[in-house]
Amino acid sequence: MERNTIMRRIIMLAAAAGFTAALTASAAGGKENWGHMCAKCHGANGDGQTNIGRHLHCKDYTDAKVQAALTDAAAIKAIKEGLKDQNGHLLMRPAKGLSDSQVKDLVAYLRTLKK
Ligand code: HEC
Repeated sequence: MERNTIMRRIIMLAAAAGFTAALTASAAGGKENWGHMCAKCHGANGDGQTNIGRHLHCKDYTDAKVQAALTDAAAIKAIKEGLKDQNGHLLMRPAKGLSDSQVKDLVAYLRTLKK
């Protein structure tokens, strides 16, 4: 294959990959967003046993009692507005760039993590 053709293919592939990535970001459901935005602290399975999660004392959202103590309204508020501890230290930043329905999807996904 001629060098130019190879270059063109690479550029086309890169453009296609970029396009897919943009689509995923805007249309991503709860599971994808959890993986991208939340799992580093809360853990992919929600148990909070990541390095940062342990450090920040993330709760175990696989625990039915922890889930029962959390209302949807509080979850939505925390995701949209972020969360501080009693001393005003930032625990969690507000999640940026999510629509209301994506926030709801995240809460719905969080609920599926209960064991
Ligand atoms: C920088 C680490 C970090 C990231 C990233 C993070 N959180 Fe949190 N989150 C925390 C900590 C710490 C708490 C407080 C302890 C707990 O409830 O687990 C918390 C609390 C929560 C709560 C409970 C709020 C309440 O009122 O009790 C929900 C719901 C939540 N996070 C959802 C999410 C979602 C959804 C995402 C992704 C969009 C996310 N978090 C990203 C650290 C994080």
